[in-house]
Amino acid sequence: MSQTPTNQSWGGRFSEPVDAFVARFTASVEFDKRLYKHDIQGSIAHATMLAKVGVLSDAERDSIIDGLTAIRSDIEAGQFDWRVDLEDVHMNIEAKLTERVGIVGKKLHTGRSRNDQVATDIRLWLREEIDVILGEITRLQQGLLEQAERHAEVIMPGFTHLQTAQPVSFGHHLLAWFEMLSRDYERLVDCRKRTNRMPLGSAALAGTTYPIDRSVTCELLGFEAISGNSLDGVSDRDFAIEFCAAASLAMMHLSRFSEELVLWTSAQFNFIDLPDRFCTGSSIMPQKKNPDVPELVRGKSGRVYGHLMGLLTLMKSQPLAYNKDNQEDKEPLFDAVDTLRDSLRAFADMIPAIQPKVAVMREAALRGFSTATDLADYLVRKGLPFRDCHEIVGKAVKYGVDQSKDLAEMSLEELRQFSDQITDDVFAVLTLEGSVNARDHIGGTAPKQVRAAVGRGRELLAQR
Ligand code: ARG
Repeated sequence: MSQTPTNQSWGGRFSEPVDAFVARFTASVEFDKRLYKHDIQGSIAHATMLAKVGVLSDAERDSIIDGLTAIRSDIEAGQFDWRVDLEDVHMNIEAKLTERVGIVGKKLHTGRSRNDQVATDIRLWLREEIDVILGEITRLQQGLLEQAERHAEVIMPGFTHLQTAQPVSFGHHLLAWFEMLSRDYERLVDCRKRTNRMPLGSAALAGTTYPIDRSVTCELLGFEAISGNSLDGVSDRDFAIEFCAAASLAMMHLSRFSEELVLWTSAQFNFIDLPDRFCTGSSIMPQKKNPDVPELVRGKSGRVYGHLMGLLTLMKSQPLAYNKDNQEDKEPLFDAVDTLRDSLRAFADMIPAIQPKVAVMREAALRGFSTATDLADYLVRKGLPFRDCHEIVGKAVKYGVDQSKDLAEMSLEELRQFSDQITDDVFAVLTLEGSVNARDHIGGTAPKQVRAAVGRGRELLAQR
């Protein structure tokens, strides 16, 4: 008794239907339907090119394009019935096309394969997503510049080892995040260049016997270049790995930033106010206001690192060319994109809304001997060697700890116990303002320099 193969796209050589579980196990439509827009975009370009080189007639091209356009509207209207038995987004759309426009729909796949089709779709999709992400980075950076400018004169303790180190401008502190995000931006721009190369025309692995003109599809799809080798074109996913690497670094930065916001909103630091709309309460402890958004972003960095490792492992040792393994590229990449985009969006919304508690920050900076280095530098200017100054100030700090007095609170007589080089001009350097204003060079924390850095930042963003 003969059995009817189920899949109309490749059923020809099969003598029994695919096992129902295997069909579900191997299908990707549940997640790759997300590529529908780019799949249709690629197909329209391919059909246009086929007509241009005479493989399709103009009438055939037009009915294919009309059919695909109508399918896109149906999908967007939620009126498309995705079928798992048709495996993936590509075969679902092709089958529907044939249903709509008849036999000419079956000609669309001339001179291509799902292998170059899917590689093209992912690149088109990722290119667009990178642009959205770049926009969110810029929006977050704008927020940082505004806050930095507004709070250039606000002084907080700067930390090393999470111990009070030296006073810094709050604006200066925020601009550190601006710098990191600028590098994240550059990395993604760079990754976009290598994503934006066209594998279409590689066909299954070896190219095609039809007289295709890849420069036509390249131009129609807005790719920067045509992939130079068909085997490589269908199989490598290095661009997706590169994206995840860049995304991991960006998430790492956001996780550090998150950690600071979590610390700063705690009762122990109490440095900033984070508006209620970015927080949630506790079901049992009525007093709680938890910084959920930064906590979640901090936590989400883990899944993006995981996707980087997952994709590296997916590609490791794969022989040329396409292997079904590659179907596993999509879910990690999609999730990495979603996670980074949403995390950036949350930060871009949140950062302009944070408010420093100026008096608390100032109080914290006054505690912890944050101007000790300034006193040492002062003694250096009086002619003493730096190492001796370090020792002298160390003794003064020890005295201060015993007496519960900061350096600026000691009298001249008290300070002179440690060095007779100290005179009453010392108090100018022991103030917080004296300390930050003295760091007056490119990249330093003097408010004047913070404002200059804001200006440079604005210029950078204006060039994008
Ligand atoms: N769904 C497949 C994927 O995502 C499309 C390519 C299938 N190619 C094949 N020869 N089975 O990778």
